[in-house]
Amino acid sequence: MKKWTKKQDAAQKGGSTAGGLGISLRERLRRKTPLYQEPYDGPLIKLENLVKIYDTGAIKVLGLKKINLTIERGEFVAIMGHSGSGKSTLMNILGCLDRPTLGHYYLDGIDTADMTPDQLSDIRNRKIGFVFQSFNLISRTSALKNVELPMTYARVSRSKRTERAKALLDRVGLGGRREHMPNELSGGQRQRVAIARALANQPPLILADEPTGNLDTASSVEIMELFSQLHKEGATVVVVTHEEDIAAFTDRVLRFSDGQLLSDTLNDHSQGKETADAH
Ligand SMILES: Nc1ncnc2c1ncn2[C@@H]1O[C@H](COP(=O)(O)OP(=O)(O)OP(=O)(O)O)[C@@H](O)[C@H]1O
Ligand SMILES: [Mg+2]
Repeated sequence: MKKWTKKQDAAQKGGSTAGGLGISLRERLRRKTPLYQEPYDGPLIKLENLVKIYDTGAIKVLGLKKINLTIERGEFVAIMGHSGSGKSTLMNILGCLDRPTLGHYYLDGIDTADMTPDQLSDIRNRKIGFVFQSFNLISRTSALKNVELPMTYARVSRSKRTERAKALLDRVGLGGRREHMPNELSGGQRQRVAIARALANQPPLILADEPTGNLDTASSVEIMELFSQLHKEGATVVVVTHEEDIAAFTDRVLRFSDGQLLSDTLNDHSQGKETADAH
């Protein structure tokens, strides 16, 4: 067990649960169960009254206003909304890159508010693969080494991580480009390297913030087909996009406006899928 913090102490006194769906740290400690190893079959993501306020000193900006949302394991979700509506704010919180100001984010049943920075980076490394609009690859570093990097943090042995990085690059169709530097690859190829990197530690949750924003239509379709395939294999995939054509690949569309969740709808093909599954 990691160091006990004041925040956790407060959580123990106050006691926070997810209305029976999430388990508070206090409850886990009472049951003497380890923080992460317990299989949890509730929703992968649950947000309760989640608020994000950016305090820039002079003014406070409300990034997200009381969001309540559940995403089940294995869902394929698009997040849409005009510029400034809070999409990236939400993604950064879902990806444990930022914390909510108020409310709760339960990831795999665990309240992330109870976690120390070390625990958050550990959970990020093991449970979340993040894909960005601008790829965020390390320049002057080969595609292979870029994909290996998260495994280095996860202390995977050198031979295993090279073997897995090669397999992942094959998987995204870049087996022949392993030694290429990012600036020797096209935009679509760079994004495929970034997806391979996001998959390095086999995370259950893949978050992509406008992954096709810098790509042409053909490359965008390739990237979305890759996400569809990952979703079919069981991953939970959440994609931010401005384009209806991109959102049409997913099963569920969440629309944001001015920091609020405006609508939550199922795409036609996913309703068809549910009906087909039911028969
Ligand atoms: N670091 C920050 N400091 C202050 N305000 C911020 C910060 N990041 C975002 N905001 C504000 O929060 C609101 C939501 O921003 P966010 O980046 O989540 O929008 P978005 O929906 O991702 O927009 P886009 O489509 O342009 O990427 C905006 O009003 C923005 O100005
Ligand atoms: Mg954004």
